[in-house]
Amino acid sequence: PYVIAEPCIDVMDRSCMEECPVDCIYEGDRKLYINPMECIDCGNCEPACPVQAISQDRRVPPELKDFVADNKRFFTES
Ligand code: SF4
Ligand code: F3S
Repeated sequence: PYVIAEPCIDVMDRSCMEECPVDCIYEGDRKLYINPMECIDCGNCEPACPVQAISQDRRVPPELKDFVADNKRFFTES
């Protein structure tokens, strides 16, 4: 699935939500989150983000791996 990382924090542009055909992007307190169980990997959201916060989880750079874990936590604890 795709994940939203650090650049989204406190920006929350929300253009990504409008592009998602399955509405699997949810709002958190300071950033948005993509539900990995619902994302169909269409890639529509990636170019929609003005700050390039979105990428496919296996292409997330090592320094942003924490965001993949944080993303999982968001959906398992709510
Ligand atoms: Fe939604 Fe497609 Fe982005 Fe997944 S890749 S979050 S399905 S727009
Ligand atoms: Fe965040 Fe970019 Fe979406 S800033 S809300 S990931 S368009």
